[in-house]
Amino acid sequence: MLKNLLLTATLLAGSLFVQAQDREYVIVVHGGAGDISKVENDPVRSALYYAALDSALSIGDCILSAGGEGSQAVMAVINYFENNPLFNAGKGATCTAEGTFELDASIMEGKDLSAGAVAGVKTIKNPINAAYAVKTKTPHVLLSGSGADTFAAEQGLEQVDNLYFATPKTLEWIEKLKQESKKNGTVGCVVLDKQGNLTAGTSTGGMFKKKWGRIGDSPVIGAGTYADNNSCAVSCTGHGEYFIRHAVAFNLCARYKYLKESVEQAADYIIHTELNTNAGNGGLIAVDKEGHIAMPFNSTGMFRGYLYKEKGQTDVVKKVGIGKVMIVP
Ligand code: GLY
Ligand code: GLY
Repeated sequence: MLKNLLLTATLLAGSLFVQAQDREYVIVVHGGAGDISKVENDPVRSALYYAALDSALSIGDCILSAGGEGSQAVMAVINYFENNPLFNAGKGATCTAEGTFELDASIMEGKDLSAGAVAGVKTIKNPINAAYAVKTKTPHVLLSGSGADTFAAEQGLEQVDNLYFATPKTLEWIEKLKQESKKNGTVGCVVLDKQGNLTAGTSTGGMFKKKWGRIGDSPVIGAGTYADNNSCAVSCTGHGEYFIRHAVAFNLCARYKYLKESVEQAADYIIHTELNTNAGNGGLIAVDKEGHIAMPFNSTGMFRGYLYKEKGQTDVVKKVGIGKVMIVP
């Protein structure tokens, strides 16, 4: 009887739409937004990105399906992206005007608003691990430069030579730094875990040819990363200065919380209306406390993917995208 009523209600509602609060866990990832036309028009490179996004989601799925904490899933996914030279984070990071590598990362947990970040680090193999150590082992939120590198070394985190982050491609850029070559591949991950906690993390090499210790939005809590169990978890990618000015990640959570907008409405408004598309080029990924997902971008594309599991279902739903269209990997 109840089943029939529910079925009727569902049919009346016009679709077999499944309420997101029936989601056991959700994971959303991004590998940067920007002009992806070169990748999109190259089937081999596209396949590499699809495969990487698929792997990232599977890594998160392993942890979340076993009841693991969102922070562990976010860390594992971002470690994977940082170790993958396709993305502008960790190995594969873009270089500064001096031909060196300075990395930024942050992580935040929505259950207690605890957060950690590092900026301008040069010798930590996986900056997201240092961000997590700042969150869990210090009374601080953001450590920068050589102090952050020293802290990470003291924590026993793996250290590398600065040139470890180089790839044949970045070495080419360093050779001829005049060449205007941008790399849009900041990485991020947001999660709703089985315990109902939201977590967000972001990691980047920043912007090509950055100078004077420039720091973008990625390690800035409220700009590039934010998580609050009362609203959403958010990770951004794009031209960091604009994401800082518009406090994009917090702004989204505030619209959701105070204006009662859906995560999609809030995300779309910020990316498509509030940010100046020509200047504030980029996108974001977000998941709200009920498992609804948003992943808007105002660039031609964004490397992205999501995975969720409905309660009572055995299979997960998984999709990845580069340009406008999402596919089942
Ligand atoms: N500017 C690098 C990125 O966020 O993708
Ligand atoms: N969104 C990354 C940066 O601007 O550094």
